[in-house]
Amino acid sequence: MINEAIKIEVSNLHKQLHHHNHCYYVLDNPEIPDSHYDKLLQALQRLENQHPEIKTPDSPTQRVGGAPLKKFKAATHLLPMLSLANAFSSEAVQSFERRLQDRLDGHFNPETQTLHFMAEPKLDGLAVSLIYEQGVLIRGATRGDGQTGEDITHNVRTIHSIPLTLKGDNIPPLLEVRGEVYMPKASFEKLNKNARKAGKRTFMNPRNAAAGSLRQLDPKATAKRLLAMYCYSIGKTEDWTLPTTHSESIKQLKHWGFSVCPENKVVTGIQACLDYYQSIGEKRASLPYEIDGVVYKIDDLNLQKQLGFISKSPRWALAHKFPAQEEMTLLETVDFQVGRTGAITPVARLAPIFVGGVTVTNATLHNMDEIQRKDIYIGDTVIVRRAGDVIPEVVRAVPDKRPPEPQPIIMPTHCPICSAEIIQLEGEAKARCSGGLYCPAQAKQAIKHFASRKAMDIDGLGDKLVEQLFDLTLIQQINDLYQLKTEQVASLERMGEKSAHNLIQALETSKQTHLSHFIYALGIREVGESTAKSLAQYFRSLDTLQQADSETLQSIDDIGPIVADRILYFFSQQHNLDVIEALIAAGIQWPTPEKTPNEDDLPLQGHHYVLTGTFSSLKRTEAKTKLEKLGAKVTASISKKTTAVFAGKKAGSKRTKAEKIGIKISSEADLLALIGEKQEN
Ligand code: IVH
Repeated sequence: MINEAIKIEVSNLHKQLHHHNHCYYVLDNPEIPDSHYDKLLQALQRLENQHPEIKTPDSPTQRVGGAPLKKFKAATHLLPMLSLANAFSSEAVQSFERRLQDRLDGHFNPETQTLHFMAEPKLDGLAVSLIYEQGVLIRGATRGDGQTGEDITHNVRTIHSIPLTLKGDNIPPLLEVRGEVYMPKASFEKLNKNARKAGKRTFMNPRNAAAGSLRQLDPKATAKRLLAMYCYSIGKTEDWTLPTTHSESIKQLKHWGFSVCPENKVVTGIQACLDYYQSIGEKRASLPYEIDGVVYKIDDLNLQKQLGFISKSPRWALAHKFPAQEEMTLLETVDFQVGRTGAITPVARLAPIFVGGVTVTNATLHNMDEIQRKDIYIGDTVIVRRAGDVIPEVVRAVPDKRPPEPQPIIMPTHCPICSAEIIQLEGEAKARCSGGLYCPAQAKQAIKHFASRKAMDIDGLGDKLVEQLFDLTLIQQINDLYQLKTEQVASLERMGEKSAHNLIQALETSKQTHLSHFIYALGIREVGESTAKSLAQYFRSLDTLQQADSETLQSIDDIGPIVADRILYFFSQQHNLDVIEALIAAGIQWPTPEKTPNEDDLPLQGHHYVLTGTFSSLKRTEAKTKLEKLGAKVTASISKKTTAVFAGKKAGSKRTKAEKIGIKISSEADLLALIGEKQEN
């Protein structure tokens, strides 16, 4: 016998857990930290272990999944689950409206002839039916053939956005709710990343992944793959009166605790539907879930009833699909493109194919590892995907259509632009052109970096101007900057005599620099501002740095084997040395950096700090300089080496990260005490 006190405790825990689950998964607005939720769940689990008879199917503990099934039971639908008629063009949508007007002639506002629609994203997942008796979830089923699906109750219980018990009042004794179970893009990416790591098969898209997850016989496996559900209609009910519009029934679903798509919108007239299609299409890539079109539904439920059904779809709704995002075509050949940072990307040249609303002839193959993993050859028939505005990619080859003698894809040994050697450094997925400062494909980016504030700080030489000068071939390499003449610059579009003169002056001024700025300006990969400073301080001359070996480089505080490799590689390239020589010949110079004082002289030697938020008595840059003078390193991001994070007002994610990984958080007062300043009041 379970005593009353335990029953009350269990019921309280149910209520609290259901509430916090709803806040987290449906409202996206948690009220308590995760750890607190876990504690409540553990308390309930303990009670259920001690008294198994109190465990109910709607217990929040059921979210983690019960025992595996042998096979799925059939689930007969209370009302058939229908599908939607599709449209692929605005004309087809307009004729949908005309059909509605003809059928409804005289049955709706005859003056304006306007119809109200609920426009909704067409979610790319699986249709699911949920049945609640007295507000408790008792069955979840797939659509199947529309008459009979599979009983997946054990799996839907693991989906947190599906309420196990309903909230609020006016709950029908029997309620069927329908909607789409989907896998958020983020969960999909995580799932595939883990599969790749474990050498397992990856899923093609979030819909396949959601389908695979829902049809797991072991609910624990479903629980691990984070699925979600947006509800889009009320099915069968008993002893309950439906509202008069579809939009009100969606509101009602929300009140009961269901998750509904936040993009749903009531619109008037078919033009507004088309506008909605356009705006959702623009938003598509940034939505956290996949959609493959939009759905228009007559909002008035009475009108829906009058319109009825034709074969298996309702006359009152239409799915307006986006153009297909995946198509098949022939991979004719592969070229290798050089990016702004020297990364070499294999690009598939395809037989033209209409996909995602445009004709595609090129698609990325990412890198050689991907080509190998996807087993792609020249001559293959491949699946090409173009999702939104992202670069089209080759998803996979179709093995059945492989020609008898497929041609392997081979990475060239030399850069197609500058003929420098192509190399692949350890730990990198992409091969790179080693042309560095000399390769025209990389030069534009290198010049922009060289001119930037923390590098040579060339006033007035912004990205746009670099582009202009480069495209007119007035500069092709960094050192060409110092050969520019006022007349050449003045002849550029939107450039006057005065601004040209100022630029030449700024170039002149930039020649007096610091060694650390110059090292940073060279754009050696992995050598940021702080590493450049360490190198300048340690070597005190460019010559010594150029001659350093890996061991010496690695003896510097923040330089590991990879950074050391990048530096060695940069200085081993003759063309980079040529550019440096030309810069120095143009007159760039710096004072020899002061000798680093002894370690003992610097109290903060070996300490690493991160500054975040705003401080009331000094700027972050001032604090940084002062800490560095005392021997500390100040870095932009938190790592295991970080001694402490100084958090000012409005400190955000860095503070949270520090808390998470257990790094000390110090205040502005601590900072001032450390650098020997008093706080202003
Ligand atoms: S309403 C009678 N609304 O599209 C029509 N369906 O072919 C009932 N779908 O199997 C469906 N998003 O899985 C409706 N907002 C939405 C939807 C949606 C996706 C799917 C649903 C159905 C298919 C229709």
